[in-house]
Amino acid sequence: MVGGGLANNMANKEQTASYKSQSRQSALMKTGDSSAKDFGTEGNISEQTGTSIFDPVLCELVYRWFNVNGGSILDPFAGGSVRGVVASYLGYAYTGIDLSQAQIEANREQAEAIGVNPTWIVGDSKNIKELAQGEYDLIFSCPPYYDLEVYSDDPNDLSTASDYEAFISGYSQIISDAVSMLKDNRFACFVVGDIRDKKGFYHNFVSDTIKAFQDAGALLYNEAILVTSVGSLPVRAGRPFVSGRKLGKTHQNILIFYKGDPDKIKEIFPAEIEAGLDIDTDRVEIKISAKMARLSFAGCSLDYIKNVCHARCCEKSTGGIIVTIHPNEQDVIEGLGGVVKDGLLQPDNSTNKCPFKLDNLCSLHNTNDKPFGCIASPFTLNKNGTLIVRNRYRLLKCYDDGDKIPAYKAFRASLDLILGAEEAERVCQLLDDGEGDITAYITRDNYNMLIENDEIKHQDTNSEMIANEGNTTT
Ligand SMILES: C[S@@+](CC[C@H](N)C(=O)[O-])C[C@H]1O[C@@H](n2cnc3c(N)ncnc32)[C@H](O)[C@@H]1O
Ligand code: SF4
Ligand code: SF4
Repeated sequence: MVGGGLANNMANKEQTASYKSQSRQSALMKTGDSSAKDFGTEGNISEQTGTSIFDPVLCELVYRWFNVNGGSILDPFAGGSVRGVVASYLGYAYTGIDLSQAQIEANREQAEAIGVNPTWIVGDSKNIKELAQGEYDLIFSCPPYYDLEVYSDDPNDLSTASDYEAFISGYSQIISDAVSMLKDNRFACFVVGDIRDKKGFYHNFVSDTIKAFQDAGALLYNEAILVTSVGSLPVRAGRPFVSGRKLGKTHQNILIFYKGDPDKIKEIFPAEIEAGLDIDTDRVEIKISAKMARLSFAGCSLDYIKNVCHARCCEKSTGGIIVTIHPNEQDVIEGLGGVVKDGLLQPDNSTNKCPFKLDNLCSLHNTNDKPFGCIASPFTLNKNGTLIVRNRYRLLKCYDDGDKIPAYKAFRASLDLILGAEEAERVCQLLDDGEGDITAYITRDNYNMLIENDEIKHQDTNSEMIANEGNTTT
């Protein structure tokens, strides 16, 4: 496997699982009313990447630092597969409960593919004592953050609670029951993030979680901050800050509680903590849609651009441009005289075209300054993590025109950038050999750039170019 490493492999599988269950559940999803959502979800992992993916490295650390050797783990809000798979791989007996049958089924598929065997139970954690009878060595979970993400329309789903008070009441009862199942002299760890109410005030969810554990008999012992990827937050945070003075948040809180006598820790918990796994989180697994990769295009020859297409791919069909400048690229583009607003390059006032487009050719072509979004542009990742040709490219003159080259050849430079030259070569070889959809691995940086650039485009309400992009089926 490219990239290797359990955590990486697992994070990628988890992504697939999350996407799968998201699509199965999409009909049930709603965006909710919390003003936190308007604010860009306050550093929640899921909304920065498009999916809720629990950090596998955090998992490993929590298990190694706060569980006894080979201990058991109780997770009242299991969600995706990561906590279960990492636990099982490291030799801990994991029991996770979740209301979502679809999510649990996807988790089981992932675990089977990886060759581990955590226990997942479908059910309402209000019945945790019956569902997961026994005593546990560690509680570890990431609960719903009230209605920040709504997981289903099941009235037992805490994310559908009628109001915050009802949510906290059900949530506290589950914590109380879980803590009663925790052995003495053991830890509990919850990863939480605060959410805003409709007026913009924080609910104080972190404090309410601490109170629920304290009332249940487990006291706050450690607190740490999980710094989540900044992603496109610098772009998204601008408007809410100006209009409401709300700061962008790019962290979650890791709360660690202890039930019992801390003096016993040195007797019970391992004195030597094993070194971590060889974790490589550099690469992300994606799928390449073979059908899309074989769509035919003219190819971007100089003659064709000059005489036929005039590089219309740089422009909106309605006039103007939509060129995303990733926050990492903004200084360079501005240094070259480009104007960037809300992550988008602004067209030249007189031509209404890209200021770097001269005589229909890109003056940044073959320089290190050409924006990632321009080079990658024919391709995007859809919601299933599949690399597809953007819908709008099929509206261009060059679609199914001229020499009729398959997209993977016509846009080889884009694939070289997105996948890296070596991986692009492997993928193109397979496509040459007539292969169907292909699993490929891209750097996490490139993966994030693709997702974040599209997030920036989604901010542009005038953009016709990304309409339905993510819904393209392959
Ligand atoms: C925050 S999510 C977990 C996702 C998270 N990012 C993760 O992977 O850790 C919380 C989960 O709680 C589940 N849930 C909500 N109410 C529940 C309840 N009453 N009993 C069991 N699970 C519940 C939802 O189905 C969802 O999968
Ligand atoms: S993608 Fe199409 S429109 Fe754009 S430069 Fe190539 S041939 Fe021209
Ligand atoms: S920088 Fe080049 S590729 Fe990008 S929009 Fe401008 S002219 Fe087109």
